[in-house]
Amino acid sequence: MLFQLSEEHLMIQKAARDFAQNELLPGVIERDEHQKFPAEQIKKLGELGFLGMMVSPQYGGAGLDAISYVLAMEEISKVDASASVVMSVNNSLVCWGLETYGTEEQKKKYLVPLAKGEIIGAFCLSEPEAGSDATSQRTTAIDKGDHYLLNGTKNWITNGSTASVYLVMAQTDVAKGHKGINCLIVEKGMPGFVVGPKENKLGIRGSDTHSLMFTDVKVPKENRIGEDGFGFKFAMKTLSGGRIGIASQALGIASGAYELALKYSKERKAFGKEISKHQAIQFKLADMATEIEAARLLCLKAAWLKDQHLNYDLAGSMAKLYASKVAMDTTIEAVQIHGGYGYVKEFHVERLMRDAKITQIYEGTSEVQKIVISRAVTA
Ligand code: CAA
Repeated sequence: MLFQLSEEHLMIQKAARDFAQNELLPGVIERDEHQKFPAEQIKKLGELGFLGMMVSPQYGGAGLDAISYVLAMEEISKVDASASVVMSVNNSLVCWGLETYGTEEQKKKYLVPLAKGEIIGAFCLSEPEAGSDATSQRTTAIDKGDHYLLNGTKNWITNGSTASVYLVMAQTDVAKGHKGINCLIVEKGMPGFVVGPKENKLGIRGSDTHSLMFTDVKVPKENRIGEDGFGFKFAMKTLSGGRIGIASQALGIASGAYELALKYSKERKAFGKEISKHQAIQFKLADMATEIEAARLLCLKAAWLKDQHLNYDLAGSMAKLYASKVAMDTTIEAVQIHGGYGYVKEFHVERLMRDAKITQIYEGTSEVQKIVISRAVTA
């Protein structure tokens, strides 16, 4: 077992770190405040290959491994989790799903521009009454021969208005339960498809979250991914990889907050010395550093399993469960270490604390991860 990154991994990590510092840090507070989508920055991320990191070069991707993806996600998320969620959804949920299960025509038409970052994609599973209980899809895709007629509403969709391509899960045959669900590729602009208002969120405020409404949208049959009824398994398989991405986002939020708190503790003096010399602060920093390292190892292990083509469902859920808790705990402590300064926007940690919470909710709540983990360990 080798706990060492390769030269190539270190280069990717540095490229992502430089991008985050030079391109994302300027304006991140204003984007959060005004809920402004980081459009220019996402375009540049795409040009650098960060939106299709694991896609084969044959389909316009960077052809990198999942370890590189974790490293890049951590660095981007240290600075701007609103940008990294776009990156995570596009890479893990949209590109990976299309590359793994799409037809050659679907890959040429949709995957290539998505992997190059020329357009971005969205993954549409959640509904007003189907969040964790994802088999209870109310959106319907009725088989009309050469097309499906899509009706329903999706909620909390990341990249809701900025995406061009949407992977939409919908029930074709209620009698078959989850085996009656299909995943359809829906294009923005298809008649009957309306993007609802933007959500005003606690955190990741620069990201673009909307509800989507479908009324008699005609989706051609060739836009179905996989066999008839494969949609739920498609969603589950795709989310397993997505959870590695969000775990890495949580890791980045935690390590970003820790680095800020460590720096501040060495500058701020109280009771005649830097606060980093007070044991109360030292113990907090020790806990943060240890928990972040454990979260990082879980993320890297899940990515390594994926790279080895081994099963990573359990490892991905463990990484997400733990890293998102570490993100929450660490950001709260980082605000505490900053004292009053931590409560104002200029010091970034209050934003990281708000951003951390979503990592315990999306791509499966912490409770969903515990369902996946407990089923695996008690099987
Ligand atoms: N791979 C392949 N198949 C899987 C699977 C996986 N990882 N997980 C489950 N399945 C299969 C099961 O084998 C089963 O198939 P069979 O009946 O043929 O055996 C089928 O799927 C149903 O599985 P379960 O019986 O386990 O289903 P369940 O109703 O008990 O639910 C659950 C399990 C884990 C709670 C699941 O519903 C789930 O993950 N819910 C959370 C959904 C979620 O993560 N939503 C996030 C939305 S996307 C998002 O947030 C993106 C964003 O914007 C950032």
